[in-house]
Amino acid sequence: MKTYTLAALLASVALPGMAMAEELEVTHWWTSGGEAAAVAEFAKAFDATGNKWVDGAIAGGGDTARPVMISRITGGDPMGATQFNHGQQALELVEAGLMLDLTEIAERDHWRDFIYPPSLLDSCTVDGRIYCVPVNIHSPEWLWLSNKAYADAGIPVPTNWSEFVASAPALEAAGKLPLALGNQPWQSNLAFGAIAVAIGGLDLWKSINIDKNMEAAAGPEMLKVFEAAAEARALAANSTVQDWNQATNLVLTGEAGGQIMGDWAQGEFSIAGKVAGVDYTCLPGLGVNEYISTGGDAFYFPKLDDPAKEAAQLELASVMISQQAQVAFNLKKGSLPIRGDIDLSAANDCMKKGLEILAAGNVVPSGDQVWSPDTQTQVEDLMVEFFKSPDMTPADAQARWVEILSANI
Ligand code: GAL
Repeated sequence: MKTYTLAALLASVALPGMAMAEELEVTHWWTSGGEAAAVAEFAKAFDATGNKWVDGAIAGGGDTARPVMISRITGGDPMGATQFNHGQQALELVEAGLMLDLTEIAERDHWRDFIYPPSLLDSCTVDGRIYCVPVNIHSPEWLWLSNKAYADAGIPVPTNWSEFVASAPALEAAGKLPLALGNQPWQSNLAFGAIAVAIGGLDLWKSINIDKNMEAAAGPEMLKVFEAAAEARALAANSTVQDWNQATNLVLTGEAGGQIMGDWAQGEFSIAGKVAGVDYTCLPGLGVNEYISTGGDAFYFPKLDDPAKEAAQLELASVMISQQAQVAFNLKKGSLPIRGDIDLSAANDCMKKGLEILAAGNVVPSGDQVWSPDTQTQVEDLMVEFFKSPDMTPADAQARWVEILSANI
């Protein structure tokens, strides 16, 4: 007969009122200084429940991390929770029945009453069931400017994209890199997307990305966007860094004039003790069209076939969407919260600009929410080639871009 030690028996019995502490491995790609400081707020909040956050940070950005996450889940080595962007990145995993259904707690806690914009929860919903908890809104359409670089160059800080482009000669004369851009593929695509919303405008963006109007995609207005992207290419020609936060650091230190990057760049400014409006200037919509797209992050929970672990997963989802965690995490992350019923008086000037744009409803879905991951990858590859090939004309790039989109609508 098998004998059990008293400790083993006690460990197997959850006494009334004493929830058993569970460890959950959480995978994400937040490895920069600001990102790590932000995700630590989620870990702290989850640990405070008596459970244990086991951090599974994966370096190299989303393009590197997501294939690792997906292969672990499909390969029978699932983590407790994992980050994906708002949109379709986990759709096949959900459709394969591998992800935990959160609908019960979402309805119990009335998520739909406070998550804003509602499209964030729609992005978690498959066949009427909810499979993720949205945790932030990150908008890529920002131009971050170094007040120091402009002071060193003896010229005023630009207030919009065209002033920024015009400032390049003075920046270069002062030994500054006009535009910092890293070599990760998504960075070129992010820069292009920000320019598209800013220069092309909201109607053109919606016509192409929502209505899938390929005539508009091939039209003269969109050619102007590619021409503006070619200007950005020239301004970033001498940028040799790899990761986005290395490019942000060039702006932080005043070595570069500006960077087109999502508002997660704020996490880097914040952790370096830089003050919005004093050390750096932020131009949403590149100072042209103050719209933001609802990019950002959500957490999904692979099925673990373990009731105690599942209870901990549901508890983690509730922690991430809680008012306290939303404030603590987003203030460090530089992102906007997914709920409007919290106190963000500690938000800095740039975050306040984002909150005003959000409150005004000047939002568009993110690229991840309107195109498949495969289409996104093809467009990213084209944009990397375009930004690295001065001999690729705006018209050539536009033709290839239309070809990719047309084959995926
Ligand atoms: C994005 C993510 C952000 C940010 C960025 C750079 O996909 O939504 O949270 O961290 O990657 O890593």
